[in-house]
Amino acid sequence: MNLLILGSGGREHALLWRLGQDQSVSQIFVWPGNAGMEFMNGPAREKLAFLELSFSKQNLKYILNDKKIDLVIPGAEKFLYDGVADWCAEFQVACLGPTRAAAQLEESKLFSKNVMTEAGIPTARYRDLTRAFREDIEMAFEVLKSFKKPVIKISGPALGKGVFVCDSVAEGVAALQQIKRNPMAGIDQGIFVEEGLTGKEVSLFYACHGDQFLFLGAAQDHKRLLDYDRGPNTGGMGAISPVSWADQSFLDTATEKFLLPTLREMKAKGTPFTGILFLGLMVDGAESNLLEYNVRFGDPETQAILPLIEGDLSLALYELCREGKPAGITLKDEVAVHIVKAAKGYPGLFGEIVEKGQIIQSQIIDDTHTQFFYAGVRKEGEDLLTDGGRVLGVTTWEKNRDLARAHAYKKIQELSFSGEHFRKDIGAKE
Ligand code: AMP
Ligand code: GLY
Repeated sequence: MNLLILGSGGREHALLWRLGQDQSVSQIFVWPGNAGMEFMNGPAREKLAFLELSFSKQNLKYILNDKKIDLVIPGAEKFLYDGVADWCAEFQVACLGPTRAAAQLEESKLFSKNVMTEAGIPTARYRDLTRAFREDIEMAFEVLKSFKKPVIKISGPALGKGVFVCDSVAEGVAALQQIKRNPMAGIDQGIFVEEGLTGKEVSLFYACHGDQFLFLGAAQDHKRLLDYDRGPNTGGMGAISPVSWADQSFLDTATEKFLLPTLREMKAKGTPFTGILFLGLMVDGAESNLLEYNVRFGDPETQAILPLIEGDLSLALYELCREGKPAGITLKDEVAVHIVKAAKGYPGLFGEIVEKGQIIQSQIIDDTHTQFFYAGVRKEGEDLLTDGGRVLGVTTWEKNRDLARAHAYKKIQELSFSGEHFRKDIGAKE
């Protein structure tokens, strides 16, 4: 088979590296990919080809035909919002991603709350504020009063900045006033408030087609910039997989309570779901609630879950998308830890400049339990330079969490650059 991976981050590098190991795969095209991907040894490197033309429906049609692509794997959600899965359906090529209509599960938080409610899925109580926010803000403040710890959410894509977790009604009112003064991306699709929940978070990853699915793993992201969950939110500073307390009985319950009702509801709505569905759960003792859906692989969770998947994953995903046949993979009984190294200034809040152009020094000693993944990098001559906020990451996998953490923190020193920073507590507490 020939695969096409869309995107350029660490997640896409991990997909390339993992799918490149599969016997069924001849070539992997990355569009556009990143310059770090060629600094890799092994089968994926030999199968790798970069695509440089600009991304459009017309160019996609040409590439699918010219490169004889069997399966398209979109990385970032923006490809799905543009309609790449609908285009692939038109061109009769399998795509591991939902149609535009089904991608609303992530693109519109109000759509997703509606699906959860219709399907009877446990989630935080919510009220739509869209009309009051636009026409009568005092009314919106009134609604907030019935929430102990209001969490305000912008419905549309807000570049990761659309969730305001507040400790009191007063904080909620202040947040609403601030959003009113500085309208932000995604607000035209609506705004709502939901009850604040407490507990531990876990992300569950499934490849789905209709009501068939393959479980790909459980992971925990580390979204805050600093150790012990302090500092501002980021795209994700590291991940661990699996999560020890998310045992088999927890996973079975999650499938019954969250996954299957969602897949059935999407089918009933006339928007059946194909692709990766990642559930973000908040778990407090015996009580679990669904916080959100994402309709694609997570970054950086993917870098932690993929090394633990055994079997011909590419073939399993292809057969699932094509024939609804969910089989062909198993999960290793090991723990994987992924640490991100970020550039000086990341995440670039309050106008802080994210530093670029630093030379990445490499002293990599290859071993069979480690893989480096590049993200924000570019090539200049023979050098690899930093070129983004999250620059690179390392994943190690070992028999247990302590070994995986120790190994990862040793290996991360093998790639370095001026101004680098990373969290020291990835996987320390689940
Ligand atoms: P979301 O994009 O909906 O996942 O929200 C981003 C983050 O905000 C989540 O990972 C949680 O840490 C937090 N969050 C979202 N909804 C709630 C909630 N109802 N209660 C507490 N925290 C929340
Ligand atoms: N790691 C969270 C995300 O990919 O959205």
